[in-house]
Amino acid sequence: MSYKEKLVKDRMPHHVAVIMDGNGRWAKKKGNARIFGHKNGVNAVRETVEACGELQIDYLTLYAFSTENWNRPKLEVDALMKLLISSINNELGNLDKNNVKLMAIGNIAGLPSNVHKELNQAISATSKNTGLSLVLALSYSSRWEIQEAIRQIVVDAKQGKLSENDLSSDLISSYLTTSGIPDPDLLIRTSGELRISNFLLYQIAYSELYFTDTLWPDFCKEDLFEAIYNYQQRERRFGKTGEQINRH
Ligand code: IPE
Ligand code: IPE
Ligand code: MG
Repeated sequence: MSYKEKLVKDRMPHHVAVIMDGNGRWAKKKGNARIFGHKNGVNAVRETVEACGELQIDYLTLYAFSTENWNRPKLEVDALMKLLISSINNELGNLDKNNVKLMAIGNIAGLPSNVHKELNQAISATSKNTGLSLVLALSYSSRWEIQEAIRQIVVDAKQGKLSENDLSSDLISSYLTTSGIPDPDLLIRTSGELRISNFLLYQIAYSELYFTDTLWPDFCKEDLFEAIYNYQQRERRFGKTGEQINRH
């Protein structure tokens, strides 16, 4: 029996976030350059998007490029930016056909202008779609995002739009780039690394974490279904006792 058949409809996560890791190691294992791994990683993105669509999941956030990734060799960064443009170009028709709404979080304005332009066009082209919201985290890091949120809060406070009594966890959320997006229920990281690498630190306070040794280019639909199956076996207590959760 496949994992998909074992899934329970009313325990589906609303938001799945993925740290797509292991492209470089995947390529190296095959005796290829790192960029070969990134190119093959696009297949895993397609699989994951389709699988989320099949399960009618509302949000899928993919960590595609971190603030820290700017420190990689220029050759790799340039190749990744090029790949981003070609992938958006190649996939846009299919995404639109499947009712996927593309969104982006991160320092989008800091991306090369051609990437920025391509991305914005794809975002507006799919803005009316009502299926899966696919959120790409690009030039994103959580500390950058929190710093920007605090900066804006200070500006608004100085202008009298906010007072210290207005501060709440919801208010802080509304200043993050993920404003309006529910917190992830499930966070997946591939490639066996057991860390968060500056991803959605504020938003994953109560997310369920799932780590797999599978390298990102090998990640397929069944891997996603397995992760969600694993998630569905857990009891989310949010600080309460198990007895409180199970009392109906
Ligand atoms: C993830 O794969 C993709 C990006 C961070 C852009 P890596 O490129 O980090 O692959 P490894 O971790 O070196 O194997
Ligand atoms: C995290 O992967 C960032 C993305 C998946 C985009 P990294 O490969 O950059 O993370 P570290 O450096 O191993 O923590
Ligand atoms: Mg990595």
